[in-house]
Amino acid sequence: MEESHRLASFDHDILFGSAGQILANYLDQHPEKNPVLIADENTLKYCWPMLLSSNERLNQAKIIQIKSGEENKNIEGCKEVWESLVNLKISRNDIIINLGGGVVTDLGGFVASTFKRGVPFIQIPTSLLAMVDASIGGKVGVDFVGLKNVIGSFSTPELVIIDVHFLKSLPELQMKCGFAEVLKHGAILDNAYWQEATKSSCLDLEHIKSLVFRSVELKNRLVLTDFEDVKDRKKLNFGHTIGHAIETHYLNSSTVLLHGEAVAIGMIAEAWIGKETGITSEACFKRLTKTVLKTYKIPNIGRETHDALLEIMRNDKKNMGSTINFTFLKEMGVSVINQTASEIQIREALNFLNTIATG
Ligand SMILES: NC(=O)c1ccc[n+]([C@@H]2O[C@H](COP(=O)([O-])OP(=O)(O)OC[C@H]3O[C@@H](n4cnc5c(N)ncnc54)[C@H](O)[C@@H]3O)[C@@H](O)[C@H]2O)c1
Repeated sequence: MEESHRLASFDHDILFGSAGQILANYLDQHPEKNPVLIADENTLKYCWPMLLSSNERLNQAKIIQIKSGEENKNIEGCKEVWESLVNLKISRNDIIINLGGGVVTDLGGFVASTFKRGVPFIQIPTSLLAMVDASIGGKVGVDFVGLKNVIGSFSTPELVIIDVHFLKSLPELQMKCGFAEVLKHGAILDNAYWQEATKSSCLDLEHIKSLVFRSVELKNRLVLTDFEDVKDRKKLNFGHTIGHAIETHYLNSSTVLLHGEAVAIGMIAEAWIGKETGITSEACFKRLTKTVLKTYKIPNIGRETHDALLEIMRNDKKNMGSTINFTFLKEMGVSVINQTASEIQIREALNFLNTIATG
């Protein structure tokens, strides 16, 4: 199988199918471009061999390995890659291939777009989260002073190549993380897709593979109508205002809580606020909560951390002025942007999370 589907995105295409074949075709069409691979230790071990056999030129690819993990998605991580690019004498005529999860595609895309004012890059996402979310929509960047994604830009790749075969080696926890974004796409945009996604477990690989295309299609539709994230693209923020605050808080602690887990928890908290403000229907809130609790643990977030979480939310780049910005659900599949909530409501939502804490 070469290319099975193609979606036009903003300034570039998203191709679905065999990543090896699609990349081989691209390199054949661009003989002047030397391939430079950016990958972490896991994607170098599990995913790179799947590409290597497809084109002789990949054997000569220059390889830059970064350390996996959100704690490395920062300026220090960028500096190491920029230094390698200098040492390898990479120019704007070359092509950077980012092979990995959202950490590699976010950091690699940012590094590529800023090196020598922009080296073209290809995103090849290998985690579920990166396939359905991080590699779609042209946002690249890194964390800074403990804040998520505050340094970054909108920079579109040459191509995004989505090959669901990479998911075979993805650890279960990572599959669960990506599934949170799949659920979000259904919750904010498409009730039928929500039903389809929740029909089977997120650890059923064939089921997950069958969902990827529709998730990408849904996100890409918002990106195409609102690339700069000032209107309907903000629907994608559902679960992320509280979710990002929780993720950021745990990033600075010894407990590991991954992006998708934080988003799942954030979706419950934000659906709770939506219900309290009369925007989210009771039935929708219950449906969402029941489904999320089937897959994700809710940590006990002590009251002593609520001030810190609110402070992070006040710093959220999605805010307009001094109010904290939310997207709320109305019904399953229908969402509204530019909502606000009082600090008391946000604290009550965090208290609600504690009443359903499972771990
Ligand atoms: N740019 C955007 O629009 C956007 C959107 C959503 C999330 N993000 C960012 O994405 C990041 C999270 O992405 P993620 O969940 O992919 O995390 P990640 O990149 O840390 O990958 C998760 C783990 O899985 C490993 N891995 C990836 N693919 C694998 C495979 N096929 N086989 C085996 N191991 C594999 C990685 O090495 C890593 O250890 C966060 O930094 C988040 O901010 C960005």
